[in-house]
Amino acid sequence: MTAIAPFLFSHATGRVIFAPDALPQLPQLAEQAGCRKACLIVDPFVLGGPLEERLRDLLGGLGPVLHAVPQHEPDSDSVEAARDVLLASGADLVVALGGGSAMDTAKAARMLASNGVAADALANPRGMTMTPHASLFVCLPTTAGTGSEVSESAIVAKAGTDYKMVLRSAEMAADVALLDPDLGVSAPPKVTATAGYDAVTHAVEAFGSKLASPLTDPFAVSAMRLLGANLERAWRDPEDREARAACLIGAMQAGIAFNSAHLGLAHAIAGAMGALHHTPHGLANALALPWTTAFNEAALGDKATVIAECIGGPGGGSGARESAAEALSRLRHAIELDIGLDSEVPDESARDRLAESAMGSGQVRMNVRLADRGQVRVIVEHMRRPTGGGAPHLNL
Ligand SMILES: [Fe+2]
Repeated sequence: MTAIAPFLFSHATGRVIFAPDALPQLPQLAEQAGCRKACLIVDPFVLGGPLEERLRDLLGGLGPVLHAVPQHEPDSDSVEAARDVLLASGADLVVALGGGSAMDTAKAARMLASNGVAADALANPRGMTMTPHASLFVCLPTTAGTGSEVSESAIVAKAGTDYKMVLRSAEMAADVALLDPDLGVSAPPKVTATAGYDAVTHAVEAFGSKLASPLTDPFAVSAMRLLGANLERAWRDPEDREARAACLIGAMQAGIAFNSAHLGLAHAIAGAMGALHHTPHGLANALALPWTTAFNEAALGDKATVIAECIGGPGGGSGARESAAEALSRLRHAIELDIGLDSEVPDESARDRLAESAMGSGQVRMNVRLADRGQVRVIVEHMRRPTGGGAPHLNL
């Protein structure tokens, strides 16, 4: 047996509650914690819809203030706006309801409020000690994706720039992650696909990371199995609550894994695409992951076989043994994310800049195989071609 390398595992989320129709548990959680006033940070779709009405009914006694985040990913301006609403509300119950943007905004806004500083002062990818916020913090993810409900970090762009800050502290984590698969039923298939592929990328990259450990691997493997077996089902039939529940749990497990194992080359490229071209995060990961996995395949060793079996099942349904990259390519094709890079990144100089920017990410160093700028540029060039669900051939 090979020696186990030293590792650090961190998980600061207090409680995880999973239940169909879990939303009505909110008032009880608030009462148990003695909360008197609620502030809800939500996705824009919540306002004016049936969910707003339901939340106001459930939390009526707590004088709920609702704040919708903008459509774009959080930046220093939008998290400071949320902090101002939070401070003005005097809330001792903070609920984030939505996708990664709503949850990351709430996480950051609480820390800006309790630490009395601007977002830049808290930016540190290695994490830092922060003054806790005196509130009960509940995260309700509406899509299976970011895993932000169980991670200790938030990504916040510096407004007006392509620079993404990482805020990280155990104090940012949710006290309660409330997983309710019924909340995702109304999500459009495209959102299910992109958010779900982000979760797949978290699981695969955490599993392949240099910081993967005996505590992160079981979460990553289970996440890959659940998402591999259920993402296409949830995409095809939004009412398939069983598939949706499996994806929600898989995305959360992937979040637990990458909170400690971190991510890799696909996220380095996806982060740069988001910053430079505003490409939706899950789509950017779908464009990159089959190719970065082809690049990593040999370095992954036995783990590549595990990825292929978890995502594609034994033989990938075709009888032949698939590679990990092929299984990921087939999955993205099945959920209609097999598109070429050119629709997002228009020309050669933009592709040069994308490769350059990706190299600036710390995630490059977590990747199982160290890539240089030239190799990342070749991967970016290959991303222009859809794979039709077949094996991505990369000569690197
Ligand atoms: Fe991600």
